[in-house]
Amino acid sequence: MAKICILGGGFIGRFYADALYGRRGKDVVTTMYARREETAARFAKDFSLTHYFTDMEEAIAHPESEVIVISLPNHIHEEAVNLCVKHKKAVLCTKPLGRTAEEALRMTKACEEAGIFAGYLEDLCYTPKFLKSLTSVKAGAIGRVLWAKSRETHPGPHSDWFWDINMAGGGAILDLGCHCIEISRNFIGKDVKPVEVMCWADTQVKPIDAEDHAIGLVKYENGAIGQFEVSWTFRGGMDLRDEVMGSEGTIWINSFLRTGFEMFTSGAGDGGYVAEKAESSSGWQFPVGDETHELGYTHMFIDMFDAYEKGIQPKETFYDGYVVNAIIDAAYKSAKTKLWEPVQLPEWRGQTGLTKPSVYQEYDAGHWFIKDEILPNGDKKVILKEKDTGKIIELETWK
Ligand SMILES: NC(=O)c1ccc[n+]([C@@H]2O[C@H](COP(=O)([O-])OP(=O)(O)OC[C@H]3O[C@@H](n4cnc5c(N)ncnc54)[C@H](O)[C@@H]3O)[C@@H](O)[C@H]2O)c1
Repeated sequence: MAKICILGGGFIGRFYADALYGRRGKDVVTTMYARREETAARFAKDFSLTHYFTDMEEAIAHPESEVIVISLPNHIHEEAVNLCVKHKKAVLCTKPLGRTAEEALRMTKACEEAGIFAGYLEDLCYTPKFLKSLTSVKAGAIGRVLWAKSRETHPGPHSDWFWDINMAGGGAILDLGCHCIEISRNFIGKDVKPVEVMCWADTQVKPIDAEDHAIGLVKYENGAIGQFEVSWTFRGGMDLRDEVMGSEGTIWINSFLRTGFEMFTSGAGDGGYVAEKAESSSGWQFPVGDETHELGYTHMFIDMFDAYEKGIQPKETFYDGYVVNAIIDAAYKSAKTKLWEPVQLPEWRGQTGLTKPSVYQEYDAGHWFIKDEILPNGDKKVILKEKDTGKIIELETWK
């Protein structure tokens, strides 16, 4: 059993507590920290905690605080991690790990040097649909992954600090792109090096210094391409979609708006909460049955605490958080220069020197296969390339 201390009593702190509390499992939230007494007291009452604090270090140092869960705004992640290092406490940190790769690498190294357990809380790499599709991809069901695309768009975050570029460290790219990038990395292979990024970003609607909308391409050393689409200006709720295209197949996942649960209400009743970032409580609705589960929090904590107990690495580590930050740094640079920008990874622990593998399919000794197709009139065409001459031919057409 692990005794957990949650730092931060806001949106994600409560989601984490719901996920941990809801399992009625052996890992228990015992302590928490919030800046304001009333937030801490309310949280402690809602989740039956024994202790709460308004001093972060006191909460971390407390003997009942064994594993610290950082659910604080981005600019306080490093300070909180350093306090965990100081008190030699295991630490789990929400996304994004840092505001920059430099910050994230410092946190990674500090934990490694102190020998403390550290996990990166990237919930969207633990949703039931994601885990199932990743298993299929790893089993070769879609062949070689060519293009992994992920979208997170919604009408914008729920607290002031997200909109302040200094506290948040960026806009939609950092806040939402971190999920999309790590989803693509998992599909493409986490040991495949991201090499360069091309990104468009703009502030289309909101009166802020950061971007509220962006689209980016991440090129990997084995020729695969990752794509992220993020927005704080999207209307209609929270759109979470992933697509993976391989040489032998395709997977499409819709994690939130169209999950098979659709409801219409005239607005009768008390309205209230429908689902994260839902914009209306009347008309057609797309509620989510069990958000903590569907958003991956349940499987994420199972992996984190299993790994902690066994003394092994979780699926998502601080090092992963740092690689994601490095890709994001390159995206910000590219959005400014309008050029492909290299991903700066002073610390890279994966494969190096990969090249794009050939997936040419041989038709016979003299030909490469391009494609075949049955046409509306029933004819079948086979399109081939002659190995010797490079000529493209249509080999046969018959009824
Ligand atoms: N899917 C996810 O994994 C997910 C979703 C939302 C947020 N997050 C991340 O969680 C972190 C917190 O986001 P949130 O949505 O809970 O924000 P929030 O604003 O709802 O809550 C943040 C909490 O930190 C406290 N806080 C604010 N400024 C502080 C300061 N200077 N010092 C100490 N405490 C302070 C607030 O009072 C609040 O209790 C962010 O890093 C965010 O990116 C992750």
